[in-house]
Amino acid sequence: MNTFYVTTPIYYANSLPHLGHLYTMIVGDTIARAKRQRGVETYFLTGTDEHGINIERAAQKAGRTPQEQSDYVVSYFKKMTSEFGLDTAHGGYDIFMRTTEPFHYKGVSELWRRISKAKTPKGNDAIYKGHYEGWFCAACAEYKTEDEYQKPKNEGDPPTCLIHDTPLDRVSEESYFFRLSDYDEALLSVLETRPDFVRPDYRRNEVISFVRGGLQDLSVSRLKTSVSWGVPVPDDPAHTMYVWFDALTNYITAIGFGNEERQKVVGFEKFWPALHLVGKDILRFHAVYWPSFLLAAGIELPRAIVAHGMWLDPNGRKMSKTLGNTIELDVLQKHFSIDAIRYFCLREMVFGQDGRFGYEGLIDRANSDLASGWGNLSSRTLTMIARYCDSRIPSGLIPEDKLLLAKRTGVDTDETTVAGFIEHARDQFVQHFDNLAFSKALETAWSVVARVDKMITDAKPWDLAKDENQKQTLGVVLYRAAESLRWLSVMLYPVMPEASGAIWKQLGLDGSPAQIDPTQLKWGDLKQGAQIGDVQPVFPRMDKAKIMSEITSAPVVPAEPSAPVVHATQADAVGVTSFIEIDDFAKVDLRVGQVLSAERIPKADKLLLMKIDLGEEQPRQLLAGIAQYYEPEKLIGRKVVIVANLKPRKLRGLESQGMVVAASYGEEGRPVIATFTEDVPNGARLK
Ligand code: MSP
Repeated sequence: MNTFYVTTPIYYANSLPHLGHLYTMIVGDTIARAKRQRGVETYFLTGTDEHGINIERAAQKAGRTPQEQSDYVVSYFKKMTSEFGLDTAHGGYDIFMRTTEPFHYKGVSELWRRISKAKTPKGNDAIYKGHYEGWFCAACAEYKTEDEYQKPKNEGDPPTCLIHDTPLDRVSEESYFFRLSDYDEALLSVLETRPDFVRPDYRRNEVISFVRGGLQDLSVSRLKTSVSWGVPVPDDPAHTMYVWFDALTNYITAIGFGNEERQKVVGFEKFWPALHLVGKDILRFHAVYWPSFLLAAGIELPRAIVAHGMWLDPNGRKMSKTLGNTIELDVLQKHFSIDAIRYFCLREMVFGQDGRFGYEGLIDRANSDLASGWGNLSSRTLTMIARYCDSRIPSGLIPEDKLLLAKRTGVDTDETTVAGFIEHARDQFVQHFDNLAFSKALETAWSVVARVDKMITDAKPWDLAKDENQKQTLGVVLYRAAESLRWLSVMLYPVMPEASGAIWKQLGLDGSPAQIDPTQLKWGDLKQGAQIGDVQPVFPRMDKAKIMSEITSAPVVPAEPSAPVVHATQADAVGVTSFIEIDDFAKVDLRVGQVLSAERIPKADKLLLMKIDLGEEQPRQLLAGIAQYYEPEKLIGRKVVIVANLKPRKLRGLESQGMVVAASYGEEGRPVIATFTEDVPNGARLK
């Protein structure tokens, strides 16, 4: 059957949507649109992962029930998908899946039952009851092995998670286990016989070596007394299913596995297997655990698991709130068109590898590739058709008796030259697109933009227009440009639906490029004599300096979601997703200090060594990463705020006994030291 199923991960309902989430949704949406355009009945899933200890904890901190917490985050996700044109109303996803849906509970329970009756390829029970003891990271929702945690500095302290830098919990309890260790050979055989199962290649190799390294059985339940927010284990409600077992299963319950509700609306047999888009950080769950569960249950494996890289800041650093180098969705939405964002995401990240995302880079690309590139080609072509051809599409053919005349101008009289070029580019474009090499596909499309632009510039239509005898030659040049624009609109529709539609309309065409299969495009199908629409710039130029100053000076305040929000308060409006008690704040000892000395440290270009008077017997020695932004001499005498009870730590062999408080803004996380406008004694406490 001509169907296709594509999924994004379902996102944890403990924090608000960010660029990483937006990115995978854009990729999924683009793939779904491209498939639909080619007449393939497509199903596109995104959604939220709403169970587990993390959500339970986030809810507790925020004073909400876990369900309220999920509803709250989901309202933001829905707002985001609507604003970025990714929801059903805009032709995007088919389902926003939520693991709290009753039909999902039914389906997951069915999968569990099936697996618990199954034997592994080595003849053992696929699920068994045992005891698990280990270090568990609540934020990752997984147990950590020795190479996955940081050993504690002081004996007796718990180790910390390498990803989250938070202490791990020692967990020992009765648990159901999935006998993953019996699936190594079966998995290797899949990975080896289906080279496209995990993509890109280098990720597949990582998975193969992980499996070859030996698989440990997987604890797939927690006692309800430890984790209550989740799907109960069938016939043993004292256990809650492991959140990843529950979450991964969403991909099949959404389309009807184990429940009639979705089976009737969508149809498991119709759409399964899926192509799963995932970030590289969650590849193991999708490429090892998930296929093993499916093998155990006797369900067909996914079509493919495709891992993308991470977005880093323009300097290649991980994005984090602390560094102040995150990309805010509200800022994106306010200053950039959806199509520019989609184009940037797909052009800038070589699919699979990490990419760098900065507002300046986005403006540069929007200006060079969109405003001066495709946008300019479109407006110059259409403006000339309006001016020289009475707003009607000219003929693409030169009559016999004008051939010689045309040749004299240097215009290629053989229309197959440009047609051949664009057909070849289209074939390459489609091939790259099918390989999910979006960046290369777009590069290919831009080779068409450059080629057609050059054709116009070389032909100088403005000169041809002065000569009545060259009317047909002029018409041919403009016809070729307009026909190329039609092809580009069709090719680029999945990436930039809005702009493609707008150019399509301006060309005077009916319907939408969404309905045209790019592989079926025929050169010359653009009808001569058709009236073009109103010519308007599709990608206005962006004033970089102005926009950057607006971005860096404005505080980031996400707007209130229009969907119902449970218990939203003022604090929520600045992006706070959980609350602390006053006692939590009281744990931080903030004091007024005065800088006694400040100097640079040889070979450490970011650090300043400072002595601070906190009204104590001895001044404190402190290291601060502000050397690139402050002249040391100018700091002397200045009143600052110090976190006085921060555990001392050594940097470059020097002990730092506290931390200077500073705001951090802009893409590079520029620090601005907090200070006082009134006189205040050293050592005074901030409350
Ligand atoms: N709930 C799980 C997925 C369960 S799927 C059955 C989860 N959720 S998540 O919200 O933490 O992250 C989901 C995705 O966002 C991951 O694929 C992750 O790679 C992606 N991203 C998070 N930060 C990212 C970037 N900076 N850049 C690109 N994608 C990133 O994991």
